[in-house]
Amino acid sequence: MSLQTKMKRKTAPDIFNRKGGEPIVMLTSYHAHTAALVDRYCDVILVGDSLGNVMHGFETTVPVTLDMMILQGHAVMRGSTQALVVVDMPFGSYEASKEQAFHSAARIMKETHCGAVKLEGGARMAETIEFLVTRGIPVMAHIGLTPQSINTLGSFRSQGKDEAAKLAEGANGSGPIQDDARAVAQAGAFAMVIEAVAEPLARRITEIVPVPTIGIGASAACDGQVLVLEDMLGLSPWVPKFVKRYGNLGPGIEAAIQDYARDVRSRAFPGPEHVYGLKAKTAK
Ligand code: KIV
Repeated sequence: MSLQTKMKRKTAPDIFNRKGGEPIVMLTSYHAHTAALVDRYCDVILVGDSLGNVMHGFETTVPVTLDMMILQGHAVMRGSTQALVVVDMPFGSYEASKEQAFHSAARIMKETHCGAVKLEGGARMAETIEFLVTRGIPVMAHIGLTPQSINTLGSFRSQGKDEAAKLAEGANGSGPIQDDARAVAQAGAFAMVIEAVAEPLARRITEIVPVPTIGIGASAACDGQVLVLEDMLGLSPWVPKFVKRYGNLGPGIEAAIQDYARDVRSRAFPGPEHVYGLKAKTAK
């Protein structure tokens, strides 16, 4: 069996071809062990720059570096075999020029072996997306709320409220977020994340673009969904309104740590079953 047939993973074109079909399932992961679990059930694993919040306790994703993304991207690739792995381009690694974006994206692809990168921004990033795609780098776009712009946005509130309200009233016109969606699709993005926009706007974008939309806080009208793993597992201390908790792992982990600490202090752990025996004597 050739290496290529043995290691068949989903690709960016596979995900692109899912437009309008069975919903695309995507979750974040930053380490090999969780990647192995996510890999069994998801089409796409996102090594999101949310690792800045989840792993490092930063308030925003702004401090995340390219080296952090590459380290965790590599770990997720080692832990998974089936899903398309998409690695986020962190703030400051792609906005200055399309050449800067290419150098950063090429490092990510070469050093992690992932299948695609994701970057934030709509029409303003279209030229960069086209530059990367025509040079062999599949790009997932990210529009609506773009958390890397928190310092100009001022807060993590939902985006495109007026645009969504007009659509809900039956207007047919375009607006800035629809323009962003058209621009990134035309530039060659194979899919786009839409974050924190109301349902009428997410539905309209999903109808007008020929590439899959993957929603986070953007309703079931999208072609797929993504959540941050730790948020849906109940490990994050605070979660946005759009997160459904599928688990409540925090208290279980705390109880296990409490039991361990108690056992160590009382010398109940390690027990006889956890220590090595002596070498058996051999008969002469
Ligand atoms: O960084 C991340 O986890 C993301 C998702 C929230 C889409 O970009």
